[in-house]
Amino acid sequence: MPGLRLEVLDEVGSTNQVATERASGGAEDGLVVVAERQTHGRGRLDRTWEAAEGTSLTFSLLLRPRAPARSWPWLPLLTGHAVAEALRAAGFEAGVKWPNDVMVEDRKVAGILVERIETPDGPAAVVGIGLNVAHRAEELPVPGATSLELLSGEPVDRTALLLALLAAVRGAYEAWQRGGERGAVALAQSYAAACVSVGRGVRVALPDGTELEGRATTVDPGGRLVVRTDDGRLVAVSAGDVVHVRPRD
Ligand code: BTN
Repeated sequence: MPGLRLEVLDEVGSTNQVATERASGGAEDGLVVVAERQTHGRGRLDRTWEAAEGTSLTFSLLLRPRAPARSWPWLPLLTGHAVAEALRAAGFEAGVKWPNDVMVEDRKVAGILVERIETPDGPAAVVGIGLNVAHRAEELPVPGATSLELLSGEPVDRTALLLALLAAVRGAYEAWQRGGERGAVALAQSYAAACVSVGRGVRVALPDGTELEGRATTVDPGGRLVVRTDDGRLVAVSAGDVVHVRPRD
């Protein structure tokens, strides 16, 4: 695939960790580290990411964006949006729960962890993606998760899917980089229109330990989820964990 180089490993601690080490050693934009097993998979908000052997796609893509640092917060959202699009092309009704959980039938099928790192060649981003492919119900790591094979009832070709996800993420990333300010606006509009949290009743656990409850009204140009709280305030959230608590009006 143009612009990408794959390193396929059997067992690692975390593909994000390996990609970070490669980046520190000078690896270029476009390195993809894929692993069959992770012993210390990392999730958002300091969680772990666990997957039984052979059940998942776990990989990390190293990026060295030219875009200004202020627009890097869009990388996790862009990635979730692209993964959902690739899954829709594969026949799954996927959408993104803000900021970047990929959902099908209101259950999480993929998680994304984007880490900004410093390297001798400048700042870089490691985009880690974990996709539940072949889990049986008893293998699901958490309640509220699902897997593609549970959804479709059919075997899924993990290699074909990996290539489709990489093509989608790479394509979205390059369009965003090439597009400058206009690309940023297009991404923000497209993401806000597709984000399945918009219009839903949400409960948001904020990093300071407090919670917010209300209805998500939009995603603003900064990638923040705008919530109209039950007491009528409009709050723009830049980090947090969202639970969908009520259907759309
Ligand atoms: C989340 O909490 O939803 C994000 C999960 C991200 C998991 C992936 S699996 C591949 C990559 N390596 C990691 O250690 N984490 C990410």
